[in-house]
Amino acid sequence: KHEELTTIVVFGASGDLAKKKTYPALFHLFQQGLLPRRTRIIGYARTKMTPEEFNKRVTSFFKATDDPKDVTAFLKICEYVSGKYDVDEDFKGLRKEIDTNEQLMHKRESDERVHIYYLALPPSVFVSVGTQIRRNVYDGSCTNRVVIEKPFGHDLESSRALSKSIGALFAEDEIYRIDHYLGKEMVKNILALRFANVFYEAVWDRRHIANVQITFKEPFGTEGRGGYFDEFGIIRDVMQNHLLQVLSIVAMHPPKSLRSEDIRDRKTEVLRRILPIQLEDTLLGQYVGTRDSSRPGYKDDETVPKSSITPTYAQCVLHVDNDRWRGVPWVIKAGKALDEAKMIIRIQFKDMVNALFPNLARNELILQVSPKESVTIKTIVKEPGLSTNLAMSELDLSYHKRYQDLKIPDAYATLILDVLNGDHSNFVRSDELDEAWRIFTPLLHQIEKEEVVPLPYEYGSTGPKGADEFPTERAGYKPTAK
Ligand code: BG6
Repeated sequence: KHEELTTIVVFGASGDLAKKKTYPALFHLFQQGLLPRRTRIIGYARTKMTPEEFNKRVTSFFKATDDPKDVTAFLKICEYVSGKYDVDEDFKGLRKEIDTNEQLMHKRESDERVHIYYLALPPSVFVSVGTQIRRNVYDGSCTNRVVIEKPFGHDLESSRALSKSIGALFAEDEIYRIDHYLGKEMVKNILALRFANVFYEAVWDRRHIANVQITFKEPFGTEGRGGYFDEFGIIRDVMQNHLLQVLSIVAMHPPKSLRSEDIRDRKTEVLRRILPIQLEDTLLGQYVGTRDSSRPGYKDDETVPKSSITPTYAQCVLHVDNDRWRGVPWVIKAGKALDEAKMIIRIQFKDMVNALFPNLARNELILQVSPKESVTIKTIVKEPGLSTNLAMSELDLSYHKRYQDLKIPDAYATLILDVLNGDHSNFVRSDELDEAWRIFTPLLHQIEKEEVVPLPYEYGSTGPKGADEFPTERAGYKPTAK
């Protein structure tokens, strides 16, 4: 058996996603020697470019510190084809290009061939490009993988319509729906933490856990992306996908095995038990400019309508209605233009019952996903020294201290490697997606129908007034003593 022959077609090769994520990730894998030995990468987009122009453009995607020798070697496996997204002839041309490339890679009859179609495209052209691939490019004699990116619709109905159209073109096991949070180091670590250690699983339920908080904070606004963002809002942009995906891994029952379908079965199962979110369990905000005008408000963005009531901040309390979690509030919180960049999962344990000691504060397990990965357990100890008092302390695993030489890979590199390996574990299955929309759609529709006005908060602040008290009121969350 020969090593497989791999062709990766990046649609939207001149766009923002390709620039920021897809090409840098492919380059990273190339540098690490992780792309199959015989790989060709074909960029496809509407812009007409000569090979030189394309090379220049791809080079501009990389960092100045990247070794120019590596860049030159990488460009040797890349090329560019320009074409429209709905013209048969253009896609037939692409197919020819793929065939020619395979000959160049010394294709033999016995070679296994893999075609990866990465759609780094806006959703408006997903279906037309998918249809074209299927009609004019798709080769049933090789392994085909189609990678798509959110937004997958904007509510349950539109997402189902999209799934149906895409499902008519490709089999579910050919589709890789990216949620890049599933490629993040600490998110991938949740499975290991939960199921490779004896003590977490023993307390992973409503008898021991008081609440779980999943928080996403960004210190910048929608600058430059206002047009896109205003159609979606923070709930669709990060909650329905990234935060809910993380939640499902924290909440799921142990999978039967680490096979992707077993993992995705468990994630889907737990999503099915989440009750649709209620408006009264939701707090919405929209950022305004700073008092000194140094930072703009959301509506100062020219691409955002002046009357916009799109939330840039939201907090929701969710409930998982199964025996493991009934009664435990899950607080998810996401906001743009806040005081810091942070993504954390905070699992707060219950007070000790019949405790010998007074309840000083609750134990917490804190997984920091970004900016710096860490696992912390808030633990009570005897205050060191002659004192017999208690003190709150931490068992602290900071990745940057513990694994100093390790460069944590970008989520996209991890995920593209998974696609190359045909591993679906870290991709969203169609039934998972459906459940995710079911949970949020009634809320989203209600917000839109009732024109719920988000509370203002200042750019760079910790969120709207009442945001800090909200989890205490809705979820009985007690902040940990410092
Ligand atoms: C994207 C959202 O999916 O995730 C953005 O559309 C957000 O609005 C981004 O900024 C956050 O990703 P990361 O990896 O920077 O935390």
